[in-house]
Amino acid sequence: MEIIVAENAGFCFGVKRALDLVARAARDRSRPVHTLGPLIHNPQEIARLESLGVHHAESLDEIPGGAVVLSAHGVDPAVEAEARARGLQVIDATCPFVRRAHRHIRTLAERGYAVVILGDPGHREVGGLAARAGGRAHIVTSAADAQALPVQKRYGLVVQTTQRSETLRQVAGALAERCAELRVFNTICEATVARQDSARELAERVDVMIVVGGRNSANTARLREICAATGTPTHHLEVAQELEPQWLASATRVGVTAGASTPEWIIGQVVERLRTLGDESAQA
Ligand code: F3S
Repeated sequence: MEIIVAENAGFCFGVKRALDLVARAARDRSRPVHTLGPLIHNPQEIARLESLGVHHAESLDEIPGGAVVLSAHGVDPAVEAEARARGLQVIDATCPFVRRAHRHIRTLAERGYAVVILGDPGHREVGGLAARAGGRAHIVTSAADAQALPVQKRYGLVVQTTQRSETLRQVAGALAERCAELRVFNTICEATVARQDSARELAERVDVMIVVGGRNSANTARLREICAATGTPTHHLEVAQELEPQWLASATRVGVTAGASTPEWIIGQVVERLRTLGDESAQA
């Protein structure tokens, strides 16, 4: 059985940067370090950070002092201001691509555009984006949502960094019919596009696709959707132990891809287990 790992898979620039900032903060043992929310959407990597003394808090109230790390997804500026007001040292790991989306939203709001965000409601990144529009943004997940928006003079569209380009095109098309003027900022990040293109291309030439990443990871969920849309049986797992031998029955080529928050060591364990299962079925 041949195992092929997608050309672009696993940690992206923004996640590596966030982890480097946290590792540096953890080396200084003079004060506690907490991340506000999970630093990245991967429970196994969060557990590894915990073992290095980096704790995870869901709100500022759970942080007694020391340093607070803002995740790569970004936060509401009011939360950052509150952290500083409480005397916490703020380590800002917001990905520069998310920051770019923040800037576009602020500009649109200042210039009087009704802001529309294509993104997963409830996702931290989308919460941070909406906050930049003063809480007045419309959050949509599909063209149908956009079609239901009121007619406006001017709409401005910004996208959660991990969305699909195809969905962006559909939503922009629907919005164009709801206003006289539409500005679109394609803020889907390059790492996302590269991972999605590689996953699609690989899924089209294998018998089974394995998508590795946190179940709470938006970009991993998109990869699973993209692979499944090719018609190739696709399975999403967080760790190697979840691999089911029957998924591989009669497969000669298995593709592996992984979300931008999936560490190399987990991808390695999945590939290793695939190899073992492949050898076992060859000997059977
Ligand atoms: Fe940044 Fe894109 Fe990664 S927005 S955190 S480089 S998926």
